[in-house]
Formats: sequence, structure tokens, C-alpha cells
Amino acid sequence: MEKAIKNYEDVDSWKTIMFLYNSAIKEVGTKLEILNDEFQHVHQYNPIEHIKTRVKSPESIVKKLRKYGYEISIENMVKYVNDIAGVRLICSFTSDIYRLAEMIGNQSDLKVLSIKDYIKNPKESGYKSYHMLVSVPIFLSDSVVDTKVEIQIRTIAMDFWASLEHKIYYKFEGHAPEYISRELKECAEMVSTLDEKMLSLNEAILECLENQEELNESAKRKKSNQQDQRVLQGLD
Ligand code: GTP
Ligand code: MG
Repeated sequence: MEKAIKNYEDVDSWKTIMFLYNSAIKEVGTKLEILNDEFQHVHQYNPIEHIKTRVKSPESIVKKLRKYGYEISIENMVKYVNDIAGVRLICSFTSDIYRLAEMIGNQSDLKVLSIKDYIKNPKESGYKSYHMLVSVPIFLSDSVVDTKVEIQIRTIAMDFWASLEHKIYYKFEGHAPEYISRELKECAEMVSTLDEKMLSLNEAILECLENQEELNESAKRKKSNQQDQRVLQGLD
């Protein structure tokens, strides 16, 4: 990026813009941690396994602008590169993804700019995730700047696949032999099956625990009824 910057003014605005993106990541990260803590507090359950954040490197920003055919400028990068600030939410179950997406959408100070549901519509590669492009207001001393953040929400299994697939594709620079792409897609299907199984297993476990609790409650009630009767009959 340094090479692409032509004058001092640009260097200054580059720093300011990177400051904004870093602040946006902090804002969104904190919001998500609060949502997760509140969920734990109310439902004794954490929908988020972990959160990863990153700011896109200057090299990747330039690469993306070139790929899109735009001139390398700060204005174009702000306008056309939507994933400079990125937050990845990794959760346990597919159901958590939609729950989190809804919670994010309900935050009144976040604006949802676009949604790409690659879970309902997986990519050709087999990639699955739920993407939300949001903007968050950053309050500076003399102004408020709406700053874009790309949020990717996926399960641990989807993340496992995406990380390895990314590494493999990187090795082939996007030109992997056909059979490798095919096998990776098959792996994506296995990952989806695993996610479905884990989700139904979790539902079965919750139901089982609920039934057990009901049984315990009714045993307790029975015992206390018996005690009451013994008292009435003068046996105790
Ligand atoms: P990009 O130019 O790739 O950003 O395309 P886009 O702006 O249309 O965004 P898209 O929603 O397709 O994907 C953005 C991000 O999702 C990428 O930067 C990756 O992090 C992730 N992604 C999308 N497709 C794939 C895929 O096939 N494999 C992996 N591993 N990650 C993907
Ligand atoms: Mg992108």
C-alpha cells in the first residue's frame, strides 16, 4: 500500500482510516461479547465458541481493488472493499448462527447493509457461512463515521473446512486440479452431515435432561406427599 500512496495527505488519511476500521472491530467485538454474556446469564448457554478479528493487510486491499479493476486510491478502498474490517463468529450449532444473526440485526446502532446466506445457498466450492455486512458508528471528537465491518458466522465444523480449504487453494493459487476440488466439496458435505448430527444430538440431549428433571420433580413431590400422609396418620 505504501507504494500506492502518492503524498503525505494520503498517508495521513490512510492512518485515520485504519484507525476507524480498528475501532469498528473493537465496537462490534464488544457488542458480540456482551450479547454472548447476556445469553449465558439468561439461558445458561453460550452461542459463541470464539471470536476472531482481523484488519485486511494493505497488500490484500490493493490486490482486491486490482481484481475489481478499480484504481488504487483510499476513496475506492473505502467504497468498494467491504471486508477491510472482519469479524468471524464461531459457534457450536447451525441454530446458533441464525440466533446470532437475529441478535445482531436487532442492535439499533448497527446498520445491516447486506446479507449473504451461504448456508442456505452454499458456494460452488462447498463453502458454507452466514455473512453480514454491517456499519457501526464510530464517535470521534468532532464527528461520527459509519464504518463497515464484515461479520462471518459459522459453526466449528464449517470453520474447520474453510480454513483447510483456504490453505489448499492458496497452495494451488486458485487452480487446484478438478479431483481435488471435487473431494473438497465431498468433505463439505460430510461437514454438513456432521453439523446436522450434532444439532439433532444436542436436541436429544436437551430433551433427555428435561425429562429427567421432570422425573426428579415428580419423585420429590411423591416423597413429600408420602411424608405428609405419615404425619396425618400420626406415624411420624
Ligand atoms: P471476495 O472478493 O472473495 O471477498 O468475494 P465477495 O466480496 O463476493 O465476498 P464473499 O461473500 O463471496 O466472500 C468473502 C469471504 O468469504 C472471503 O474473503 C473468505 O473469507 C470467505 N469465502 C468465500 N468463499 C470461500 C470459499 O470458497 N472458501 C473459503 N475457504 N472461504 C471463502
Ligand atoms: Mg469479501
